[in-house]
Amino acid sequence: MSLASRLIDFFSKKKTVADETDAQSKVKQQKLGKMTARERIESILDENSFHEYDLFIEHKAEDFGMDKKFLPRDGVMTGTGDIVGHPVCIYAQDFTIAGGSLGLAHARKITKIMDHAVKLGIPLIGINDSGGARIQEGVNSLAGYGEIFYRNTIASGVIPQISVILGPCAGGAVYSPALTDFVFVVDKISKMFITGPEVIKTVLGEEISMEELGGARVHSEISGNAHFFAESEQECFEQIKKLVSFIPWNNSKKAEKFPVKQPKSNYVISNVIPKESTVPYDVRDIIKCLADDSDFLEVQEHFAANIVIGFARFNGETIGIVGNQPMVLAGVLDVDSSDKAGRFIRFCNAFSIPLLTLVDLPGYLPGIDQEHAGVIRHGAKILYAYSEATVPKITVVLRKAYGGGYIAMCSKHLGADFVFALPSAEIAVMGPEGAANIIFKKEITEALDPDAMRKQKVEEYTQKFANPYKAAAAGYIDAVVAPEELRGHILHSLHISANKVENRPAKKHGIPPF
Ligand code: HXC
Repeated sequence: MSLASRLIDFFSKKKTVADETDAQSKVKQQKLGKMTARERIESILDENSFHEYDLFIEHKAEDFGMDKKFLPRDGVMTGTGDIVGHPVCIYAQDFTIAGGSLGLAHARKITKIMDHAVKLGIPLIGINDSGGARIQEGVNSLAGYGEIFYRNTIASGVIPQISVILGPCAGGAVYSPALTDFVFVVDKISKMFITGPEVIKTVLGEEISMEELGGARVHSEISGNAHFFAESEQECFEQIKKLVSFIPWNNSKKAEKFPVKQPKSNYVISNVIPKESTVPYDVRDIIKCLADDSDFLEVQEHFAANIVIGFARFNGETIGIVGNQPMVLAGVLDVDSSDKAGRFIRFCNAFSIPLLTLVDLPGYLPGIDQEHAGVIRHGAKILYAYSEATVPKITVVLRKAYGGGYIAMCSKHLGADFVFALPSAEIAVMGPEGAANIIFKKEITEALDPDAMRKQKVEEYTQKFANPYKAAAAGYIDAVVAPEELRGHILHSLHISANKVENRPAKKHGIPPF
């Protein structure tokens, strides 16, 4: 047999082993209620578009009997394909091969596909189902993760990076996702932690389930590590496809333009905002009144719900929306909502996605909990992110814009290009009740009827400040517009800002209040 024939024979046997492993993986993953690496990739990508690379790469580890272990694909499938015609680089770890753990060869397959994604200027999707650094490979697996983290960071703001958590993921298998732009989780399947229950039991002597420690709900609702929550893997893949349709391939391109659609006629702003300024409403209904086809892809829906962030289209073009949610904590800014909005604003700015800000909030949340949790440091993130952003910035004051909240929610002073207010807007240092109690304290306490005096002073203050006209007279509001004219004003602002250029002093980088 010639050398060439022997090589072909050798590699075709490896291919057969890999195919057999795929079949065995299917049985093992099905038992765990999970899809295989191949099924996952093929479900996300357009039919027949997946091209796999590096099938034959093998580990060179020798310790702990590794020299006798053949790990097909070294536990990770990598390649390229399309999502609704958008090219992407993709990898999926295979939990059935050494727990999807990351050795050096496994890591090198991932870093190679990451380098491709950056060079080709296309999004990277990583499907994580891994126990983290492969323990048997020691420092080599740590090196592998280090090289991935480095690339995640270098690629940040250059190409969109999407992480999908589809199994029990530990250590590096969650730190790499933390460095990416969007993290997807699936109920009951996704688990994320730095150290698993076994380690916690050994070190702390505490018994805790994986679900309690870092299940999909924990990271969607409490920690804020996850951006999208799904009930099933298939639902998760549909969410990924939708997200990819909204974002550009890289930071030098615009997101794909879609055919223009009008908002659905059953959404009317004046029916959504209650007459009484203390009555809550759902800001997402306002978004539906304004956006093409009333379609909104909400990000981090279940975390810090007092602020709403996500993508919509206006005249077919992608816009990032940030809106206070009066339905939750009256829409206040706090530690978590500032983190949530600040990061989203920076994503939009990095990828040239204009920002629309919808304002209705009483200010920053007061109290010892927030102060001790660092509301000064975290709250500053939103100020920083808006001030730093040079994409077109359009702000609409729907109702309350009080105090620090007025400034923080992309006011003129933080560089908004266009600020509109509805006639229902109230722009002041604080709400009429609080303001009257402070500035008319003496008159109220000395009055024969303090309650009547308080009412009168609240009314006086309301007449004077709880409207948009003082701010408009100062030039801080560009126009007070009727609700039915608002979409037209936003569309026009976006149209004339299409070639916006805003230069800043040269610097290596700023120092945001991380
Ligand atoms: C090698 C591993 C592994 C690992 C799991 N396996 N994790 N092999 N290295 N890190 C193997 C198991 O030996 C087992 O092999 C198979 O995968 C399935 O694992 P189980 O424990 O049976 O599965 P399960 O009960 O579902 O638990 C999954 C798990 C647990 C929670 C992930 O395996 C676990 O806690 N693993 C260790 C996690 C960890 O501490 N990783 C290192 C993190 S440090 P067999 O042959 O029996 O099927 C790190 C460095 C980066 O990642 C730090 C970031 C800054």
